[in-house]
Amino acid sequence: MAEDILRITGGVPLHGEVTVQGAKNSVLPIMAAGILCGGETVLHRVPQLSDVYAASRILNRLGCSCRISGNTVVLNASGLHSFEIPDADMRKMRSSIVFLGPLLGRCGECVLTMPGGCELGPRPIDMHLDALRQMGVTVTEQDGKIRCKANRLHGAKITLSYPSVGVTENVLMAAAAAEGETVLRNAAREPEITDLAGFLNACGTEIRGAGESTVTVSGKCMLHGAEYRIMPDRIAAVTWLCAGAAAGGTVVLRETQPADMESCLEVLTAAGCRLGVCGDRIFLESSGRLRRVRQIRTMPYPGFPTDAQPLFCAVLCRANGTSVIEETVFESRYKYIGELLRMGADIRVSGRTAVITGREMLHGADVTAPDLRGGAALAVAAVSAEGETVLRALPHIDRGYEHFAEIFHSLGGNVNRGSFTRNDTKNSV
Ligand code: UD1
Repeated sequence: MAEDILRITGGVPLHGEVTVQGAKNSVLPIMAAGILCGGETVLHRVPQLSDVYAASRILNRLGCSCRISGNTVVLNASGLHSFEIPDADMRKMRSSIVFLGPLLGRCGECVLTMPGGCELGPRPIDMHLDALRQMGVTVTEQDGKIRCKANRLHGAKITLSYPSVGVTENVLMAAAAAEGETVLRNAAREPEITDLAGFLNACGTEIRGAGESTVTVSGKCMLHGAEYRIMPDRIAAVTWLCAGAAAGGTVVLRETQPADMESCLEVLTAAGCRLGVCGDRIFLESSGRLRRVRQIRTMPYPGFPTDAQPLFCAVLCRANGTSVIEETVFESRYKYIGELLRMGADIRVSGRTAVITGREMLHGADVTAPDLRGGAALAVAAVSAEGETVLRALPHIDRGYEHFAEIFHSLGGNVNRGSFTRNDTKNSV
Protein backbone atom coordinates (compact mmCIF):
# COMPACT_ATOMS: atom_id res chain seq x y z
CA MET A 1 0.00 0.00 0.00
CA ALA A 2 1.32 3.49 -0.87
CA GLU A 3 1.90 5.91 1.98
CA ASP A 4 3.56 9.29 2.35
CA ILE A 5 6.82 9.28 4.25
CA LEU A 6 9.59 11.73 5.03
CA ARG A 7 13.17 10.79 4.19
CA ILE A 8 15.49 12.79 6.41
CA THR A 9 19.26 12.70 6.14
CA GLY A 10 20.69 14.35 9.22
CA GLY A 11 23.98 15.94 10.12
CA VAL A 12 23.48 19.11 8.06
CA PRO A 13 23.31 22.39 10.03
CA LEU A 14 20.18 24.47 9.43
CA HIS A 15 20.43 28.07 8.25
CA GLY A 16 17.68 30.43 7.20
CA GLU A 17 14.45 32.26 7.99
CA VAL A 18 10.97 30.93 8.69
CA THR A 19 7.73 32.91 8.72
CA VAL A 20 5.71 31.26 11.46
CA GLN A 21 2.26 29.91 10.58
CA GLY A 22 -0.96 30.87 12.34
CA ALA A 23 -1.75 28.95 15.52
CA LYS A 24 -3.62 25.68 15.15
CA ASN A 25 -4.83 25.81 18.75
CA SER A 26 -6.20 29.28 18.20
CA VAL A 27 -7.81 28.96 14.78
CA LEU A 28 -9.91 25.88 15.65
CA PRO A 29 -11.86 27.48 18.55
CA ILE A 30 -12.12 30.75 16.61
CA MET A 31 -13.63 28.95 13.61
CA ALA A 32 -16.10 27.29 16.02
CA ALA A 33 -16.86 30.70 17.56
CA GLY A 34 -17.92 31.87 14.11
CA ILE A 35 -21.15 29.93 14.80
CA LEU A 36 -22.13 32.67 17.27
CA CYS A 37 -21.97 35.40 14.64
CA GLY A 38 -24.89 36.69 12.63
CA GLY A 39 -22.69 38.20 9.93
CA GLU A 40 -19.69 37.17 7.90
CA THR A 41 -16.38 36.39 9.58
CA VAL A 42 -13.06 36.65 7.75
CA LEU A 43 -10.00 35.04 9.32
CA HIS A 44 -6.45 35.72 8.15
CA ARG A 45 -3.21 33.82 8.73
CA VAL A 46 -5.14 30.55 8.88
CA PRO A 47 -2.69 27.65 8.55
CA GLN A 48 -3.44 25.04 5.88
CA LEU A 49 -3.86 22.01 8.12
CA SER A 50 -5.97 18.88 7.99
CA ASP A 51 -7.56 19.91 11.33
CA VAL A 52 -8.62 23.22 9.75
CA TYR A 53 -10.20 21.33 6.82
CA ALA A 54 -11.94 19.03 9.33
CA ALA A 55 -13.32 22.05 11.24
CA SER A 56 -14.49 23.54 7.95
CA ARG A 57 -16.28 20.28 7.05
CA ILE A 58 -18.06 20.29 10.41
CA LEU A 59 -19.19 23.90 9.90
CA ASN A 60 -20.48 23.18 6.39
CA ARG A 61 -22.32 20.09 7.59
CA LEU A 62 -24.04 22.17 10.27
CA GLY A 63 -25.33 24.48 7.53
CA CYS A 64 -22.75 27.26 7.79
CA SER A 65 -20.81 28.36 4.78
CA CYS A 66 -17.07 28.04 5.30
CA ARG A 67 -14.67 28.68 2.43
CA ILE A 68 -10.90 28.39 2.63
CA SER A 69 -8.78 30.25 0.15
CA GLY A 70 -5.06 30.09 0.81
CA ASN A 71 -4.59 31.35 4.35
CA THR A 72 -7.97 33.05 4.54
CA VAL A 73 -11.24 31.58 5.82
CA VAL A 74 -14.59 33.20 5.08
CA LEU A 75 -17.31 31.94 7.35
CA ASN A 76 -21.00 32.72 7.48
CA ALA A 77 -23.17 30.94 10.02
CA SER A 78 -26.50 32.47 9.03
CA GLY A 79 -27.66 29.20 7.43
CA LEU A 80 -26.92 27.02 10.49
CA HIS A 81 -29.61 24.31 10.61
CA SER A 82 -28.18 21.56 12.78
CA PHE A 83 -26.68 21.23 16.24
CA GLU A 84 -25.56 17.60 15.92
CA ILE A 85 -21.90 16.83 15.20
CA PRO A 86 -21.63 13.47 13.43
CA ASP A 87 -19.61 10.82 15.24
CA ALA A 88 -17.19 10.46 12.29
CA ASP A 89 -16.29 14.15 12.60
CA MET A 90 -15.94 13.96 16.37
CA ARG A 91 -13.47 11.11 15.94
CA LYS A 92 -11.50 12.76 13.18
CA MET A 93 -10.62 15.89 15.08
CA ARG A 94 -9.77 15.65 18.76
CA SER A 95 -10.54 19.30 19.35
CA SER A 96 -14.08 18.92 17.95
CA ILE A 97 -15.25 19.44 21.54
CA VAL A 98 -14.80 23.21 20.98
CA PHE A 99 -18.04 23.21 18.97
CA LEU A 100 -20.02 22.43 22.13
CA GLY A 101 -19.95 25.94 23.65
CA PRO A 102 -20.83 27.84 20.46
CA LEU A 103 -23.66 25.45 19.48
CA LEU A 104 -25.16 25.79 22.95
CA GLY A 105 -24.80 29.55 22.69
CA ARG A 106 -26.45 29.75 19.29
CA CYS A 107 -29.04 26.90 19.40
CA GLY A 108 -29.38 26.13 23.12
CA GLU A 109 -28.70 22.54 22.16
CA CYS A 110 -25.86 20.30 20.99
CA VAL A 111 -25.59 16.58 20.31
CA LEU A 112 -22.16 15.01 20.10
CA THR A 113 -20.16 11.90 20.88
CA MET A 114 -16.87 11.56 22.76
CA PRO A 115 -14.01 13.26 20.92
CA GLY A 116 -11.94 10.80 18.97
CA GLY A 117 -9.00 8.63 19.66
CA CYS A 118 -6.68 8.22 22.55
CA GLU A 119 -3.60 9.98 21.33
CA LEU A 120 -2.30 11.47 24.55
CA GLY A 121 -4.30 9.33 26.96
CA PRO A 122 -7.96 9.59 27.82
CA ARG A 123 -9.48 12.96 26.91
CA PRO A 124 -12.40 13.19 29.27
CA ILE A 125 -15.02 15.91 28.89
CA ASP A 126 -16.33 15.85 32.44
CA MET A 127 -15.05 19.35 33.24
CA HIS A 128 -16.66 20.76 30.07
CA LEU A 129 -20.03 19.29 31.06
CA ASP A 130 -19.73 20.31 34.74
CA ALA A 131 -18.98 23.93 33.82
CA LEU A 132 -21.82 24.12 31.30
CA ARG A 133 -24.30 22.54 33.74
CA GLN A 134 -23.67 25.56 35.97
CA MET A 135 -24.90 27.72 33.08
CA GLY A 136 -28.24 25.90 32.91
CA VAL A 137 -27.31 23.02 30.59
CA THR A 138 -28.75 19.56 31.19
CA VAL A 139 -26.78 16.60 29.90
CA THR A 140 -28.24 13.24 28.96
CA GLU A 141 -26.48 10.29 27.42
CA GLN A 142 -28.04 7.62 25.24
CA ASP A 143 -26.59 5.12 22.78
CA GLY A 144 -23.20 6.80 22.94
CA LYS A 145 -24.65 10.22 22.11
CA ILE A 146 -24.33 13.09 24.54
CA ARG A 147 -27.24 15.54 24.36
CA CYS A 148 -26.71 18.94 25.95
CA LYS A 149 -29.68 21.28 26.22
CA ALA A 150 -30.33 24.62 27.85
CA ASN A 151 -33.81 26.12 27.96
CA ARG A 152 -32.22 29.29 29.24
CA LEU A 153 -28.43 29.55 28.98
CA HIS A 154 -27.41 31.92 31.74
CA GLY A 155 -24.23 33.40 33.14
CA ALA A 156 -22.73 31.84 36.26
CA LYS A 157 -19.85 32.00 38.69
CA ILE A 158 -17.71 28.99 37.77
CA THR A 159 -14.47 27.83 39.35
CA LEU A 160 -12.49 25.22 37.43
CA SER A 161 -10.68 22.49 39.37
CA TYR A 162 -7.90 22.63 36.73
CA PRO A 163 -7.18 25.44 34.25
CA SER A 164 -8.19 23.41 31.19
CA VAL A 165 -7.71 25.14 27.85
CA GLY A 166 -10.67 23.50 26.12
CA VAL A 167 -13.04 24.05 29.04
CA THR A 168 -12.08 27.72 29.31
CA GLU A 169 -12.75 28.12 25.57
CA ASN A 170 -16.14 26.41 25.74
CA VAL A 171 -17.23 28.50 28.73
CA LEU A 172 -16.14 31.76 27.07
CA MET A 173 -18.04 30.90 23.87
CA ALA A 174 -21.20 29.76 25.65
CA ALA A 175 -21.02 32.76 27.99
CA ALA A 176 -20.67 35.15 25.05
CA ALA A 177 -24.25 34.24 24.06
CA ALA A 178 -25.68 33.58 27.53
CA GLU A 179 -28.01 35.81 29.50
CA GLY A 180 -26.12 37.87 32.09
CA GLU A 181 -22.57 37.80 33.33
CA THR A 182 -20.21 34.85 33.71
CA VAL A 183 -17.21 34.90 36.01
CA LEU A 184 -14.73 32.09 35.36
CA ARG A 185 -12.12 31.45 38.05
CA ASN A 186 -8.96 29.35 37.65
CA ALA A 187 -9.33 29.85 33.90
CA ALA A 188 -6.57 28.71 31.54
CA ARG A 189 -4.21 31.60 30.74
CA GLU A 190 -2.77 30.31 27.45
CA PRO A 191 -2.19 32.96 24.75
CA GLU A 192 -4.72 31.11 22.56
CA ILE A 193 -7.40 31.98 25.15
CA THR A 194 -6.46 35.64 24.82
CA ASP A 195 -6.69 35.29 21.03
CA LEU A 196 -10.16 33.72 21.23
CA ALA A 197 -11.31 36.51 23.59
CA GLY A 198 -9.83 39.05 21.16
CA PHE A 199 -11.94 37.58 18.37
CA LEU A 200 -15.11 37.42 20.47
CA ASN A 201 -14.61 41.02 21.58
CA ALA A 202 -14.13 42.05 17.94
CA CYS A 203 -17.55 40.46 17.33
CA GLY A 204 -19.23 42.54 20.03
CA THR A 205 -18.80 40.51 23.24
CA GLU A 206 -17.39 42.07 26.37
CA ILE A 207 -14.72 39.82 27.86
CA ARG A 208 -12.39 41.15 30.54
CA GLY A 209 -9.34 39.47 32.05
CA ALA A 210 -8.55 36.94 29.29
CA GLY A 211 -5.02 35.67 29.88
CA GLU A 212 -5.54 36.04 33.64
CA SER A 213 -6.97 33.53 36.10
CA THR A 214 -10.33 35.29 36.43
CA VAL A 215 -12.23 36.10 33.26
CA THR A 216 -15.53 37.97 33.12
CA VAL A 217 -17.91 37.71 30.17
CA SER A 218 -20.98 39.86 29.59
CA GLY A 219 -23.33 37.85 27.41
CA LYS A 220 -24.99 39.12 24.23
CA CYS A 221 -27.77 37.53 22.26
CA MET A 222 -26.14 37.49 18.86
CA LEU A 223 -22.67 38.58 17.83
CA HIS A 224 -21.75 40.25 14.59
CA GLY A 225 -18.98 38.97 12.34
CA ALA A 226 -15.48 40.39 12.27
CA GLU A 227 -12.24 40.35 10.33
CA TYR A 228 -9.48 38.87 12.48
CA ARG A 229 -5.87 37.76 12.19
CA ILE A 230 -4.96 34.53 13.99
CA MET A 231 -1.98 34.73 16.36
CA PRO A 232 1.29 33.04 15.37
CA ASP A 233 1.74 29.42 16.41
CA ARG A 234 4.10 29.33 19.40
CA ILE A 235 4.54 25.57 19.22
CA ALA A 236 5.39 25.62 15.51
CA ALA A 237 7.87 28.42 16.33
CA VAL A 238 9.42 26.31 19.09
CA THR A 239 9.63 23.38 16.67
CA TRP A 240 11.84 25.35 14.26
CA LEU A 241 13.97 26.63 17.14
CA CYS A 242 14.42 23.08 18.45
CA ALA A 243 15.35 21.86 14.96
CA GLY A 244 18.05 24.55 14.76
CA ALA A 245 19.19 23.80 18.32
CA ALA A 246 19.53 20.07 17.63
CA ALA A 247 21.05 20.21 14.15
CA GLY A 248 23.18 23.31 14.82
CA GLY A 249 23.12 26.44 12.69
CA THR A 250 21.29 29.75 12.71
CA VAL A 251 17.53 30.04 12.48
CA VAL A 252 15.57 33.29 12.30
CA LEU A 253 11.83 33.27 12.95
CA ARG A 254 9.58 36.02 11.64
CA GLU A 255 6.09 36.90 12.88
CA THR A 256 6.31 35.45 16.38
CA GLN A 257 5.09 36.63 19.77
CA PRO A 258 8.28 36.00 21.78
CA ALA A 259 6.60 36.83 25.12
CA ASP A 260 4.33 33.77 24.66
CA MET A 261 7.35 31.49 24.46
CA GLU A 262 9.45 32.62 27.41
CA SER A 263 9.59 29.28 29.22
CA CYS A 264 10.87 27.57 26.05
CA LEU A 265 13.36 30.30 25.21
CA GLU A 266 14.78 30.07 28.75
CA VAL A 267 15.40 26.33 28.38
CA LEU A 268 17.08 26.78 24.99
CA THR A 269 19.37 29.39 26.53
CA ALA A 270 20.12 27.14 29.50
CA ALA A 271 21.01 24.39 27.03
CA GLY A 272 23.64 26.62 25.45
CA CYS A 273 21.88 28.17 22.43
CA ARG A 274 22.43 31.87 21.72
CA LEU A 275 19.10 33.61 21.40
CA GLY A 276 18.11 37.12 20.44
CA VAL A 277 14.71 38.79 20.20
CA CYS A 278 13.98 41.87 18.11
CA GLY A 279 10.33 42.87 17.82
CA ASP A 280 8.49 39.88 16.37
CA ARG A 281 11.72 38.12 15.32
CA ILE A 282 13.66 35.47 17.19
CA PHE A 283 17.25 34.57 16.31
CA LEU A 284 18.83 31.28 17.38
CA GLU A 285 22.40 30.13 16.99
CA SER A 286 23.46 26.67 18.07
CA SER A 287 26.64 24.60 17.83
CA GLY A 288 24.47 21.48 17.81
CA ARG A 289 26.23 20.13 20.90
CA LEU A 290 24.22 21.35 23.85
CA ARG A 291 24.29 21.18 27.65
CA ARG A 292 21.90 19.10 29.67
CA VAL A 293 18.91 20.75 31.33
CA ARG A 294 18.37 19.76 34.93
CA GLN A 295 14.57 19.61 34.97
CA ILE A 296 11.69 20.45 32.63
CA ARG A 297 8.24 20.21 34.16
CA THR A 298 5.20 20.69 31.92
CA MET A 299 2.56 22.96 33.43
CA PRO A 300 -0.38 25.10 32.35
CA TYR A 301 0.70 28.47 30.87
CA PRO A 302 2.85 30.38 31.76
CA GLY A 303 4.62 27.13 32.69
CA PHE A 304 6.46 24.98 30.19
CA PRO A 305 3.99 23.77 27.51
CA THR A 306 3.19 20.07 27.28
CA ASP A 307 3.12 20.43 23.48
CA ALA A 308 6.81 21.40 23.50
CA GLN A 309 7.88 18.52 25.75
CA PRO A 310 8.60 15.95 22.96
CA LEU A 311 10.52 18.56 20.95
CA PHE A 312 12.86 19.35 23.85
CA CYS A 313 13.31 15.67 24.62
CA ALA A 314 14.56 15.21 21.05
CA VAL A 315 16.98 18.13 21.48
CA LEU A 316 18.34 16.79 24.80
CA CYS A 317 19.10 13.32 23.35
CA ARG A 318 22.48 14.67 22.23
CA ALA A 319 23.12 17.09 25.09
CA ASN A 320 26.15 16.79 27.29
CA GLY A 321 24.86 15.06 30.47
CA THR A 322 21.59 13.85 31.92
CA SER A 323 18.32 15.81 31.69
CA VAL A 324 15.01 15.11 33.38
CA ILE A 325 11.51 15.79 32.03
CA GLU A 326 8.34 15.53 34.06
CA GLU A 327 5.03 15.48 32.15
CA THR A 328 2.17 16.61 34.38
CA VAL A 329 -0.58 17.46 31.86
CA PHE A 330 -1.28 14.40 29.68
CA GLU A 331 -0.54 10.88 30.86
CA SER A 332 0.39 9.23 27.55
CA ARG A 333 2.73 11.75 26.08
CA TYR A 334 5.85 9.60 25.89
CA LYS A 335 4.85 7.28 23.04
CA TYR A 336 7.44 8.85 20.74
CA ILE A 337 10.25 7.82 23.10
CA GLY A 338 10.18 4.21 21.87
CA GLU A 339 10.92 5.58 18.39
CA LEU A 340 13.77 7.79 19.68
CA LEU A 341 15.30 4.66 21.23
CA ARG A 342 15.43 3.14 17.73
CA MET A 343 17.59 6.11 16.76
CA GLY A 344 20.06 5.32 19.53
CA ALA A 345 18.74 7.65 22.24
CA ASP A 346 19.28 6.75 25.90
CA ILE A 347 16.01 7.53 27.71
CA ARG A 348 14.43 5.82 30.69
CA VAL A 349 10.77 6.46 31.46
CA SER A 350 9.24 5.87 34.85
CA GLY A 351 5.63 7.00 35.18
CA ARG A 352 5.52 10.68 34.31
CA THR A 353 9.29 11.14 34.38
CA ALA A 354 11.76 10.69 31.52
CA VAL A 355 15.51 10.63 32.21
CA ILE A 356 17.54 11.44 29.11
CA THR A 357 21.25 10.74 28.98
CA GLY A 358 22.82 12.62 26.10
CA ARG A 359 24.62 10.61 23.45
CA GLU A 360 27.41 11.85 21.20
CA MET A 361 25.35 10.92 18.13
CA LEU A 362 21.98 9.47 17.13
CA HIS A 363 21.58 7.39 13.99
CA GLY A 364 18.85 7.30 11.36
CA ALA A 365 16.10 4.67 11.68
CA ASP A 366 12.67 3.70 10.38
CA VAL A 367 10.28 5.44 12.78
CA THR A 368 6.57 6.17 13.03
CA ALA A 369 4.95 9.34 14.38
CA PRO A 370 2.68 8.32 17.27
CA ASP A 371 0.97 11.73 17.46
CA LEU A 372 1.41 15.32 16.26
CA ARG A 373 4.19 16.69 18.47
CA GLY A 374 5.79 13.28 18.93
CA GLY A 375 6.09 13.11 15.13
CA ALA A 376 7.64 16.58 14.93
CA ALA A 377 10.08 15.57 17.68
CA LEU A 378 11.22 12.58 15.60
CA ALA A 379 11.95 14.93 12.69
CA VAL A 380 13.95 17.20 15.04
CA ALA A 381 15.98 14.21 16.21
CA ALA A 382 16.43 13.02 12.62
CA VAL A 383 17.98 16.27 11.36
CA SER A 384 20.61 16.01 14.09
CA ALA A 385 21.28 12.28 13.54
CA GLU A 386 23.82 10.54 11.35
CA GLY A 387 22.38 8.83 8.28
CA GLU A 388 18.87 8.48 6.92
CA THR A 389 15.60 8.36 8.86
CA VAL A 390 12.31 7.32 7.32
CA LEU A 391 9.43 8.97 9.18
CA ARG A 392 5.98 7.45 8.75
CA ALA A 393 2.39 8.27 9.76
CA LEU A 394 2.56 11.82 8.42
CA PRO A 395 -1.18 12.51 8.80
CA HIS A 396 -0.39 13.20 12.47
CA ILE A 397 2.07 15.93 11.43
CA ASP A 398 -0.30 17.33 8.77
CA ARG A 399 -2.84 18.05 11.53
CA GLY A 400 -0.63 20.77 12.93
CA TYR A 401 2.17 21.84 10.58
CA GLU A 402 1.89 23.76 7.35
CA HIS A 403 4.62 23.00 4.74
CA PHE A 404 6.58 20.87 7.22
CA ALA A 405 9.07 19.30 4.79
CA GLU A 406 9.35 22.46 2.67
CA ILE A 407 10.37 24.56 5.69
CA PHE A 408 13.10 22.08 6.67
CA HIS A 409 14.20 22.13 3.06
CA SER A 410 14.32 25.94 2.96
CA LEU A 411 16.62 25.81 6.01
CA GLY A 412 18.97 23.55 4.09
CA GLY A 413 17.81 20.34 5.73
CA ASN A 414 17.83 17.18 3.69
CA VAL A 415 14.13 16.40 4.20
CA ASN A 416 12.02 15.04 1.36
CA ARG A 417 8.43 13.94 1.26
CA GLY A 418 7.37 11.25 -1.10
CA SER A 419 4.92 8.47 -1.66
CA PHE A 420 6.43 5.02 -1.44
CA THR A 421 5.04 1.56 -1.18
CA ARG A 422 5.72 -0.16 2.13
CA ASN A 423 8.03 -2.77 0.55
CA ASP A 424 10.09 -0.12 -1.27
CA THR A 425 10.84 1.80 1.90
CA LYS A 426 11.60 -1.24 4.02
CA ASN A 427 14.12 -2.37 1.41
CA SER A 428 15.78 0.96 1.02
CA VAL A 429 16.37 1.88 4.66
C1 UD1 B 1 -5.34 22.02 24.53
C2 UD1 B 1 -4.57 22.00 23.24
C3 UD1 B 1 -3.45 20.99 23.33
C4 UD1 B 1 -2.59 21.30 24.54
C5 UD1 B 1 -3.43 21.39 25.80
C6 UD1 B 1 -2.66 21.82 27.04
C7 UD1 B 1 -6.17 22.58 21.50
C8 UD1 B 1 -6.92 22.13 20.32
N1 UD1 B 1 -5.47 21.64 22.16
O1 UD1 B 1 -5.90 20.74 24.70
O2 UD1 B 1 -2.67 21.06 22.15
O3 UD1 B 1 -1.67 20.23 24.70
O4 UD1 B 1 -4.48 22.35 25.60
O5 UD1 B 1 -2.05 23.06 26.82
O6 UD1 B 1 -6.15 23.75 21.86
N2 UD1 B 1 -9.20 17.23 31.37
C9 UD1 B 1 -10.11 16.53 32.12
N3 UD1 B 1 -11.45 16.73 31.91
C10 UD1 B 1 -11.90 17.60 30.98
C11 UD1 B 1 -10.97 18.31 30.21
C12 UD1 B 1 -9.61 18.11 30.42
O7 UD1 B 1 -9.72 15.73 32.97
O8 UD1 B 1 -13.13 17.73 30.83
C13 UD1 B 1 -7.75 17.02 31.59
C14 UD1 B 1 -7.07 16.38 30.37
O9 UD1 B 1 -7.21 14.99 30.35
C15 UD1 B 1 -5.64 16.81 30.56
C16 UD1 B 1 -5.77 18.18 31.21
O10 UD1 B 1 -7.09 18.26 31.72
O11 UD1 B 1 -4.97 15.95 31.44
C17 UD1 B 1 -5.51 19.34 30.26
O12 UD1 B 1 -6.42 19.32 29.23
P1 UD1 B 1 -6.88 20.66 28.48
O13 UD1 B 1 -6.16 21.83 29.03
O14 UD1 B 1 -8.37 20.62 28.47
O15 UD1 B 1 -6.30 20.40 27.06
P2 UD1 B 1 -7.08 20.48 25.71
O16 UD1 B 1 -7.99 21.66 25.71
O17 UD1 B 1 -7.64 19.12 25.40
